[in-house]
Amino acid sequence: MPASGVGPSAAERNGSFHVPSQLRMEAELSLRRLMPRLTECWDECGVDEPLRHEFQTRLDTYWGELFVLLYDLYGSRYDFFYHLEQILLTAARAWANRPESLREIDRHRINEPEWFSSERVIGGALYVDLFSENLGRLTESIDYFKELGLTYVHLMPLFAVRPGDNDGGYAISNYRSVDPRLGTIDDLRNLASKLRESGISLVLDFVFNHTSDDHEWAQRAQAGEWEYQQYYYIFPNRDLPDQYERTLREIFPTVRRGNFTWHDAMQQWVWTTFNSFQWDLNYHNPSVFRAMLEEMFFIADTGVDILRLDAVAFIWKRMGTSCENLPEAHKLIQAFNRLARIATPGLVFKSEAIVHPDEVVKYISPNECQISYNPTLMALLWESLATRKVDLLVRSLSHRHRLPTCTAWVNYLRCHDDIGWTFDDADAAALGINAYDHRQFLNRFYTGQFEGSFARGIPFQENLETGDMRIAGTLASLAGLEKAIEENCEVEKELAIKRMLLLQGVTLSIGGIPLIYLGEEWAMLNDYDFIKDPAKAGDTRWVHRPKMRWEFLAELDGGSESQEGSIRKEVFQSLRRMIAVRKSLPPLAGQSMDLIATGNSNVLGFVRFHESHRLIVLANFCERQQSISGNVLRTAGLGRFFEDAISSITYPTSEAISLEPYQIAWLRRV
Ligand code: GLC
Ligand code: GLC
Repeated sequence: MPASGVGPSAAERNGSFHVPSQLRMEAELSLRRLMPRLTECWDECGVDEPLRHEFQTRLDTYWGELFVLLYDLYGSRYDFFYHLEQILLTAARAWANRPESLREIDRHRINEPEWFSSERVIGGALYVDLFSENLGRLTESIDYFKELGLTYVHLMPLFAVRPGDNDGGYAISNYRSVDPRLGTIDDLRNLASKLRESGISLVLDFVFNHTSDDHEWAQRAQAGEWEYQQYYYIFPNRDLPDQYERTLREIFPTVRRGNFTWHDAMQQWVWTTFNSFQWDLNYHNPSVFRAMLEEMFFIADTGVDILRLDAVAFIWKRMGTSCENLPEAHKLIQAFNRLARIATPGLVFKSEAIVHPDEVVKYISPNECQISYNPTLMALLWESLATRKVDLLVRSLSHRHRLPTCTAWVNYLRCHDDIGWTFDDADAAALGINAYDHRQFLNRFYTGQFEGSFARGIPFQENLETGDMRIAGTLASLAGLEKAIEENCEVEKELAIKRMLLLQGVTLSIGGIPLIYLGEEWAMLNDYDFIKDPAKAGDTRWVHRPKMRWEFLAELDGGSESQEGSIRKEVFQSLRRMIAVRKSLPPLAGQSMDLIATGNSNVLGFVRFHESHRLIVLANFCERQQSISGNVLRTAGLGRFFEDAISSITYPTSEAISLEPYQIAWLRRV
């Protein structure tokens, strides 16, 4: 992989794509044949010459690759060329109807494909209902985002959903209407443009692996329409499901065993990887690809900057495989990517692949998903916090952090989902760690069952057969604050605060986009009341999805002096400060990061650089003071005196540097 810093090479931008000459000719020929249809479409939509020209330039650049991708996926079908034509026309209409304000952004971003790598980009994620009740009121929170320093806001799915349990919005019944409890499509557009005026990017989900069982397509399938039954994987008996089942894992084993759901009215089995009411879409059918492409463009045009591609690993199935991370899944996303490059070129894809680290990285490229959650870093930060040792984290970072140009990690500690221990077993084995035992240890630690643990997490999807489980809990509860408050122990409260800020400090500085799950800034504790709501009781992830408490804002100005109020104030102000400091440090842009051998297993060290600027980060993962040789700073930072941009303390390199319990320091030369 090329080092980051330089612009994308032609080969990279055009894909490491070898287009066989036979196919290249086919591609050119097909485009020539389709040109009259395109012209007709422009005429119908009343598109002027400059706009046609812009589209054509991009079409010429990407058509060859798009053709090959679609040919690989659907080329053996008799009606391939019909689908190809429809796909081209869908893209053309999307460009024709794209609001001019978004086209303006498209034009900028074509020339600035790394805009999201700036040190000024900071993300936040929230549920509209839990944060501000509805989209209208969310507009009033823009000042709050600005105060905290956010420049990217991910709103959890807000489209129309089925009644009852809807998996936190991930069971969508209509991609073109907003859940009426939250507002309307116009409210969404209005919010998007207000965010844009404030320099904040909007991130929304593209939930394209499945629809809700009450989506119109699913309803028509249930009504017996053959055409719509082909949109899903529906089986008359257990023959095929049983064969598939041999190589599949279970994602939500406490909800339902296996991956298929019996539908009583249809008297058939339906493929449902997640909940029984989330029907997997059948992308072997090109009509599904086309239908979802239209939904994608619709969502993009509401004013979305970044589309979070949900559950990418699962979108293609093949008998005898795990049906995760298949090559065709990548081709599908790449085809969506090329179509976005052609019709909505400012749009960026974010990958949600919570899978083995070797697989996570395969979704990341300018041609596929430009940005991606970094679940490996997330899991290993928690691992380091439990063990107080950074060896496994360092080992993983040493060969897993680097990414291609024009791409970025999204670094987070908590999100709306659980924590799974997705580190590589071989990385662990290289350090003499047995991965299975270690995961058992981490599960016991974070559910507070390991003696001396500070954490108060709860199990998610415990599988008694495999011994597998994941962890739910808020940042604060997992970092020890819940236990410390309960035991009213001052020392532990201080340590818990430091643990939170330590982890935040790493995600803010290690390279990539930091993403805060809103509520973290107030150190919000687990909310056990979800159990009272029947639509939520079966899913322990709700414990870490608390409702925003706006009265906390008043505490900032010295309002409440309660114990917990002062903790919240301290966490909020420290985090806000770190964010502001990050924005003032150009070496924190981009991805390039070199690890430093600190000579101390408790201390993570790395250097970030940008042009002639360098910044050294030291992070102590232990509740005891640690000492690092001054020489480490001198040789990695090339200077004699360093100042911590967080605490403003100066360190001469002639002496050993002493790090307080859980201290993180961002050291620059003075
Ligand atoms: C994604 C979401 C998760 C959801 C699942 C099914 O992984 O993050 O919350 O349950 O997809 O849509
Ligand atoms: C699995 C899936 C991921 C999903 C999560 C929900 O880890 O890989 O897509 O978000 O389950 O718990």
